[in-house]
Amino acid sequence: METLLNVENLCVGCAEFTIVKNVSFQVQKGQVVGIVGESGCGKSTMLKSIVDLSDNNVFVQGGQIQFNDLELTKLNEKKLRALRGAEICMIFQKPETALDPLIKVRDQFFECVKYHSKSRVSKDECYKKSKRLLEKLHFDNTDRVLNSYSFELSGGMNQRVALAMAMINEPQLILADEPTSALDVSVQSQVVRTMVELRENYGTSILMVTHNMNIVAQMVDVIGVMYGGRLVELGSKDEVLNYPMHPYTRALIDAIPQMDGSRPVGIDGVPPSFSKSIAGCPFSSRCGFLKNKCDNSLPPMAFITDRHWVLCHNEVAK
Ligand SMILES: Nc1ncnc2c1ncn2[C@@H]1O[C@H](COP(=O)(O)OP(=O)(O)OP(=O)(O)O)[C@@H](O)[C@H]1O
Ligand SMILES: [Mg+2]
Repeated sequence: METLLNVENLCVGCAEFTIVKNVSFQVQKGQVVGIVGESGCGKSTMLKSIVDLSDNNVFVQGGQIQFNDLELTKLNEKKLRALRGAEICMIFQKPETALDPLIKVRDQFFECVKYHSKSRVSKDECYKKSKRLLEKLHFDNTDRVLNSYSFELSGGMNQRVALAMAMINEPQLILADEPTSALDVSVQSQVVRTMVELRENYGTSILMVTHNMNIVAQMVDVIGVMYGGRLVELGSKDEVLNYPMHPYTRALIDAIPQMDGSRPVGIDGVPPSFSKSIAGCPFSSRCGFLKNKCDNSLPPMAFITDRHWVLCHNEVAK
C-alpha cells in the first residue's frame, strides 16, 4: 500500500491552549479512514488544519502533514489553494455551506472545473461530465438537478451533489466533516453508499470525522478514536470494533443504539476542558479502570498488533 497522507505528531490550537495534541495517523491510497469521538473532542479542528481552513485564531502548533511528497504545513497559500478543490476536497456537515443558493448547480460544477482542472474544459464538456457523475451517484433526472438551484433540492440530494462536485476534478483525497449528520437515517445510508462507491469506482481516499459509530462501521477501513484532542486508539475497523482496547472506545461502542429495544449505555461525566492542562490520561476522570498513575502520566502507545494501538496504562501493563 502507498501512503497518501501522513499526519505526524500534529498539534493544533490557538494562542491560549492546544486543542489537537500529538495526533499521528496515515491514509493509504484508496483507503477510507474514520476518526470518531464525541462532540468537542477536536475532530473538525484536526480536519480543517490539514488544508489550512482553520478559523483565524487557530493554527498548527507542531508536527507534520505530508500529502504525497508535499509538506502541507510549509506550503504557501497560493499552492494550498491550487491543491484544495483539485487534489484534496472537503465536504462539510451542511451541504448548504458548499453550494451557492444563487447559482444553478450546473454553473457551480463549471466554476469548480474552471478554477481547479488541470486542463481547459468547455462548459459543454463539464455539463456532460457532471451528468455522468450524477448518474453514478444514482440521480434519476440529472438534467433537472443540474438546472436547479440548491434550495430546490432536498438535504440528501444536496449532499450528494456536493460529493459529485468534490469529485469533478477527481481528487486523490476527500476530507469529510460529519457528512451525514444533518440528514435523516435513510438518506444517511444513501450518502454512505455513495461514498463507498466513490472509493470503489475512482480509488479516492477518504478521511472522515464523525461522532457516529454506526456510519464508521458501515464504511471505513481504519478507525481512529479521538478523546480530548488526542487519538487514543487506532486500528482496522474489525480490530477496533471487535477488540476495542480503550475504555472510551468500549463506551462509544456500548453507546450505539441497538434494534433489540435495549437502552444504549451513556458515558458518565464530561470531557476535559482544553484550557486546563492535564498531566495524565485525558479520560481518567470518566474511566472505570482507573489506576494511580492514570492521573499523573500520559500512557505511552501500546501496540496490540502491528497496526492496532491504544493509549492506555492498563494495556501497557499487560
Ligand atoms: N476558533 C476557535 N478558538 C478557540 N477554541 C476553539 C475554536 N474552534 C474550536 N475550538 C474549541 O476546540 C474544541 C474542539 O472543537 P471542534 O469543533 O474541533 O470539535 P468537534 O470534535 O469537531 O466537535 P463536533 O462533533 O461538535 O463538531 C472545542 O472545545 C471548541 O470549543
Ligand atoms: Mg466538528
